Amino acid sequence: MNSSYLKIAIQKSGRLLEKSLAMLNECGIRINSGYNQLRAVCDNFPCEILFLRDDDIPAYIEDGVADVGIVGENVVVEKQKDILLATRLGFAQCRLALAVPRDFAYTDIKSLEGKRIATSYPKILQNFLDEAGIQAEIHIISGSVEIAPSIGLADAICDIVSTGSTLLSNGLKEVQPVMKSEAVLVANHHLNDFKQKLLDKLIFRINAYKKARYYKYILLNAPADQLQAIIELIPGMKSPTVLPLAEPGWISIHSVIQEDDFWEIIEKLQACGAQGILVVPIEKMIL
Ligand code: PRP
Ligand code: ZN
Repeated sequence: MNSSYLKIAIQKSGRLLEKSLAMLNECGIRINSGYNQLRAVCDNFPCEILFLRDDDIPAYIEDGVADVGIVGENVVVEKQKDILLATRLGFAQCRLALAVPRDFAYTDIKSLEGKRIATSYPKILQNFLDEAGIQAEIHIISGSVEIAPSIGLADAICDIVSTGSTLLSNGLKEVQPVMKSEAVLVANHHLNDFKQKLLDKLIFRINAYKKARYYKYILLNAPADQLQAIIELIPGMKSPTVLPLAEPGWISIHSVIQEDDFWEIIEKLQACGAQGILVVPIEKMIL
């Protein structure tokens, strides 16, 4: 039953939705109907997309309602379901953090002793408080946690912070990080062979997508006698491509660099006489 395609669960609305769809799209998985509904079919990959509340995704995967899912690591850790973390996805980075009203005189974690903390992440929070040796009252709220202090429901909150704008607009300040999180791909432990092959295929595509996001394609012109020095700076995947320019004594060098290294390398390249340096995004990268 349902063994001929992969059921992929993603968040039906919220921070992860657009980026999850964008990643699937980059992996060649295109939805052929509008996604303002519970499920959608895809044209070019044997899969079905299920749009679910992110908090429910781990349980649905454990039960086999969905085969794989894209969800925040924070939700996976909180729900403690028996599911496989297939790969990290490198987007929707955020942190679970404690926050208090702006006028709360917070000095350190001891300031929360005996206080009421509202959260949708009671297990992670309890664990954190236990390790810090703090006794506090945890109030479990499933949505709009940020309004709990202003309506007198809690003294503090423990919630996801990404840009910080939700805290800001609710008169709260972040005081203590609890855990870092990002989107992850999770999977059911007991996929049949056919689905396992589809999952492997999906992970292969995701890895190409992830690598491409970390790397840039770089093109530059340089004096031919600087070739060796420049190769050492931008060795590339195997070795750089070198093309002669029409102007004698000059060459064009093409390679890839890690985004993070770019600003450090750029000055060294200029010192080697490099000119006309172009850095362009890469869409897919397969080593
Ligand atoms: C979180 C959190 C805030 C928002 C914070 O919700 O509950 O609402 O993100 O983001 P900001 O710092 O950029 O303002 P999430 O997307 O995890 O979805 P949820 O509705 O399932 O809690
Ligand atoms: Zn949620």
